[in-house]
Amino acid sequence: MNPEVKDLQPKLKEVLYDCAVEIRATKAALFLYDSVGRYEIVAEYGFKGAIRQSVDQKDPVVDRCGRGRSAFFVNGLSAEPRFSEIMYESASDRLLAAPIYNRGQLVGLIDMRDKAQKQLFDNADIPKAQKIAERIAALFAGKNVFGQRFISLSHPDDPQNVVPRSTIQAAPLPSAAADVARVPVSSSPKTTSPAPAAPAKAATEAGSRVPRLSALIIDGRAAANRIVLPPSPESLTENELAAVRDVLRSILLIPSVAVVSFTAFGHLGGVQEMAAKAVISEEALAFLQSKVNVWLAKRGESGGHTRRNVQLPNGPGTASIQSTQMVKVFTAPVTAGAFRSLYLTVAFSANPDRVTHELLAAMLTQLQVAIERSVDRTSLQSLRERAAIALLEPDFTKYPELRTHCDRVSSRAESLARYLEMPPSEIENVKLAALVHDVGMRLLDYDRLYRKPDISLDEIHLLREHTTVGAALIEPILGHEVARAVLCHHERWDGTGYPNELAGGEIPRISRIIHVCDVYESMISTESYKPAQPRAAILAMIAENGGTQFDAAIANRFIEMVR
Ligand SMILES: [Fe+2]
Ligand SMILES: [Fe+2]
Repeated sequence: MNPEVKDLQPKLKEVLYDCAVEIRATKAALFLYDSVGRYEIVAEYGFKGAIRQSVDQKDPVVDRCGRGRSAFFVNGLSAEPRFSEIMYESASDRLLAAPIYNRGQLVGLIDMRDKAQKQLFDNADIPKAQKIAERIAALFAGKNVFGQRFISLSHPDDPQNVVPRSTIQAAPLPSAAADVARVPVSSSPKTTSPAPAAPAKAATEAGSRVPRLSALIIDGRAAANRIVLPPSPESLTENELAAVRDVLRSILLIPSVAVVSFTAFGHLGGVQEMAAKAVISEEALAFLQSKVNVWLAKRGESGGHTRRNVQLPNGPGTASIQSTQMVKVFTAPVTAGAFRSLYLTVAFSANPDRVTHELLAAMLTQLQVAIERSVDRTSLQSLRERAAIALLEPDFTKYPELRTHCDRVSSRAESLARYLEMPPSEIENVKLAALVHDVGMRLLDYDRLYRKPDISLDEIHLLREHTTVGAALIEPILGHEVARAVLCHHERWDGTGYPNELAGGEIPRISRIIHVCDVYESMISTESYKPAQPRAAILAMIAENGGTQFDAAIANRFIEMVR
């Protein structure tokens, strides 16, 4: 366990007991991210050991918490089948979970079970659970325990770190092209990027550098906050409804199912998609609706207007379905993406047996997956890309060579990622990180420093801050992974890069990809700091520096691709 978390453990447990006091949960566990892909228990009460000690991102509670910032509850083992197993393991049958977010990353969650006196969790518990999660998150403010150490804001309470706003000059800085070229070449003749900053001493020598940096980051964050990103879709589209119709037809294949209905309140003006074995009589429709209304009322949820569409895959049938044929009616919430108010209702003509129940649970999962898949991934991708481009504006338009450099590095890095056969989501991150890799420069003294002949050591240090400033600027918009890739794009394989002198595999793969493309594009560009060099000479230099400056494997594949 992280030592800082260990120190906080008594305090964490104290806050966790608020779940008993405020929500009357008889069991609660606090899971925190361990920085290597798992969430481990750091405090719990009531479970008496009957709970997993650590979970990964595939755990249904972690997965669900990662999809939205609000708490959620599940009452009953069969209400949402994907939670049944974990509830069953802990001999519990009601669950309320609250995600804990820090700097945009899911860093933990509170897993509460079984409200006292057999009561159900309800909507009134959600804000209470979120408040408790916020109290936990507040205990970590200013600490770097979740692998987010790269955000190096100075402590705002320290008067030494406060810089009058008037001293902040908001202007961008040169691209890595200039950055790579202009710094005096270090002792190694092979070096093609600047020697790393001499860490602590240089910082003090640079005088106001540290407070200035924090002010820049605050500025950058404020600017980033002004970029309005369209929210993730909250309303279903016709695409999702088409996917739903397919699954409804599959559910109708279960022998004892007479009618299946998918209700989406507030989506597309309110829709109810139904599939039935035969025409449904008005009286049966009213009966089904009343069942759904009772179910909603019990859960404290409200319905709304819906437009009904009934499909009859087997034709109208010989006789219409009557309410007397609806022996059992089940309703379950459908949890897909960030969508709310979706319900599946199934009417059986005979009491369903265990196998039927299992089949239905599998179909419900299939329905959820079908909806999520159908949400147009490409439109989400282009949203992020638009956000990345917004980050480059407007300052980069004043410096077209910087914009051109970023575009070239991005398309080169995207090609390399494809050539390396990376999965689509990673290719997208490579492309976006490369597009914004020098965005931190827009906040630095670009006008003054670009192509300055006698650049000082302090100014070199300032230039190098573009990695940290850039990462802090983009993290709230493009997420942790892209921000970290930007932070590390001047790290070198041999550990002599900046800002953190990471070495080898410590450097994110995306950063290693960008680094080689950045150097190549800087050297081959005619707009760069010196006349473009012949391609063969650049490739020879990249080959020669594989294993020192560059990841040798990536450098070799790059050369293969470009040749
Ligand atoms: Fe750079
Ligand atoms: Fe660059």
